Amino acid sequence: MSLFVTFEGPEGSGKSTQARLLYSYLHARGYPVILVREPGGTRIGDLIRRIVLDLQHTEMADTTEMLLFSAARAQLVNEVIRPYLEQGGIVLCDRYADSTYAYQGYGLGRDMNELRTLTAIATGGLLPDVTIYLDLTADEGLERKRRKRQEQDAGRAAPPLNLPSELPRLGGAEGRGPIEWNRLDAREVAYHRRVAEGYRKLIAQEPERWRAFDACQAIDALAGQIAGELEPWLEHIQMLETTTPDTQ
Ligand SMILES: Nc1ncnc2c1ncn2[C@@H]1O[C@H](COP(=O)(O)OP(=O)(O)OP(=O)(O)O)[C@@H](O)[C@H]1O
Ligand SMILES: [Mg+2]
Repeated sequence: MSLFVTFEGPEGSGKSTQARLLYSYLHARGYPVILVREPGGTRIGDLIRRIVLDLQHTEMADTTEMLLFSAARAQLVNEVIRPYLEQGGIVLCDRYADSTYAYQGYGLGRDMNELRTLTAIATGGLLPDVTIYLDLTADEGLERKRRKRQEQDAGRAAPPLNLPSELPRLGGAEGRGPIEWNRLDAREVAYHRRVAEGYRKLIAQEPERWRAFDACQAIDALAGQIAGELEPWLEHIQMLETTTPDTQ
């Protein structure tokens, strides 16, 4: 048995923060787990990421954007995700195909059937077992990112995180790396609202796969809820024999 978990949600909803915390929690408990992000997660995918998210690439056609995201995804699935799942591991992926449906489908108005066909080609039909949705309005997410960027620019340190004791503390700034502001972030607010609304439609179409969480909650509370939600799945995952649980 393996487990494929994806994280979705509007900009700034806390996907990367929660994906990192869950990774750290599972790793410390001795599970075979990797964390990857989209677009990227491979050498080739990271190069594609730079092209597709570069703020200067304002001339990029929507079709190019759609194909580049899919190309990065194809590389990630083939090089990293599928081989790790075949070994019985847990893969956490910060954004996956649902981002294409939400951003290029509902956001840009691309044909959904076309996107589904393209995604099936890119992923070979690989679907997540569980998709964690961090539910925040587009306006709140963008505002959160704007605020964090201002703090960053002003050189103010973010307050320390108050993590529950059962969750491991990460060495660095948990989910508080430099705030990225990319070509897609810079799109108009109406676009981001369509994306958030699109996610709701995707959840309604496949409610059994999605687990939605109120992303306005404190980071540590959310992390505990997400870990708790995955507990039943973890029973089927074989622990790493050589790893001593890390209880720092
Ligand atoms: N529950 C929360 N409450 C308040 N702030 C949060 C919460 N979760 C994350 N943040 C902060 O909001 C900012 C965005 O978080 P994060 O980068 O994890 O979001 P994201 O969904 O990955 O964003 P992006 O869509 O840009 O990749 C970070 O500064 C993070 O520390
Ligand atoms: Mg992120």
